[in-house]
Amino acid sequence: MSDVSVRERLPLEGRHIALGVTGSISAYKAADLASKLRQAGATVEVVMTPAAAQFVTPLTFQSLTGRPVVLDMFAAEEAEAHVEVARRADALVIAPASADCMANLASGRTPDMVTLTALATVAPVLVAPAMDSQMWAHPATQANVETLRARGVTFVGPAEGRLASGRTGAGRLAEPAAIVGALRALLGRSRGDLSGRHVVVSAGPTQEPIDPVRYVGNRSSGKMGFAIAEAARDRGARVTLVTGPVALETPPGIDRRDVSTVAQMLAVLQEVTATGDALVMSAAPADFRPENPATQKMKKTPGQESMRIDLAKNPDILASLPAGGVRVGFAAETENLAENAVAKLASKRLAFIVANDVTAAGSGFGTETNQVTIFHDDGRVDALPLMSKYAVAHAILDAIAARLD
Ligand code: CTP
Repeated sequence: MSDVSVRERLPLEGRHIALGVTGSISAYKAADLASKLRQAGATVEVVMTPAAAQFVTPLTFQSLTGRPVVLDMFAAEEAEAHVEVARRADALVIAPASADCMANLASGRTPDMVTLTALATVAPVLVAPAMDSQMWAHPATQANVETLRARGVTFVGPAEGRLASGRTGAGRLAEPAAIVGALRALLGRSRGDLSGRHVVVSAGPTQEPIDPVRYVGNRSSGKMGFAIAEAARDRGARVTLVTGPVALETPPGIDRRDVSTVAQMLAVLQEVTATGDALVMSAAPADFRPENPATQKMKKTPGQESMRIDLAKNPDILASLPAGGVRVGFAAETENLAENAVAKLASKRLAFIVANDVTAAGSGFGTETNQVTIFHDDGRVDALPLMSKYAVAHAILDAIAARLD
């Protein structure tokens, strides 16, 4: 983001990630993964097997991470490199993990730096397998996967698709973005302050049908709600994301429920909030819906200069859901921000409400940033600076976590 006054928060800031790369044609994707981990704020230390170095040179990883790469433990600059990398790591990611690597991990053998680091670390381990589909399906490989799972290793992928062998099947390395998402969820579960909690988030607009091809909707992009869902997952929560129609990909590790109308959103929220510790209503549900949607496409008649659509009131979702858990609302206003927000805080029985002026620079629909003020039910007011939506999400979750404690 070019504006230096935007407060950012990187998802892996302060995290030390060991990345183990083993021999697979997909090793080139590990270069992209190393880059993505670094962009997410992590310090990345790469350890490789000699076979991996046949596919991608250590120099590639050294340049991307800005740190030495350990390939040969006897030649490493640091004495006891295997123990040191393992000790520093908050997590070890092995991507790609070959069938041979998984066999070694399962049997505790350490012929290379990757398996040595895995044996020497107490940090959580994420394995992203990549191999031909027949090797993946082989009972020996599947038995190794079961052994490693039982020991607490987490797997991401392999994905289905075209393989280097020309075959199609399961065996492709998971996409780097999916690996980063799985890592964020894993770090959250192992030490996040919302670990063990269930957070329900609503997002996006609703679409209320006029006829089979037209609807009444609004400009909500869903970005704020998706950022809250991701941040809650990163802090260890189990997250259910109930979303209206949006053009956003489902973040890894999040249970997404798609709805289109207020009636559907209410029905799904009634079900999923039953076990929720917190509900964040960042969706923009339509207040009114066409009273009698047409069953066929409406046609204009010759000479027709106008038309009317009668609208009926939709239920207020927050008012309709039973009280319980930490309830958080949003107030997107164009004027009288504080008065409107405080009125909604009380009438919707909220712990706090997140208010923003949608006409302010950097706070409109579809932006990557937001400037919000949080009004709490005890009268406290937190006026936050312009922040990335992910940073705003953490500020909201800080307030939720304080309530849950
Ligand atoms: N909300 C809801 N059900 C609705 C409309 C809104 O639960 N039918 C929720 C929103 O998700 C948000 C909060 O109520 O968390 C405030 O939404 P907003 O549209 O600002 O408030 P309204 O009560 O609809 O008031 P108005 O549109 O008159 O400003």
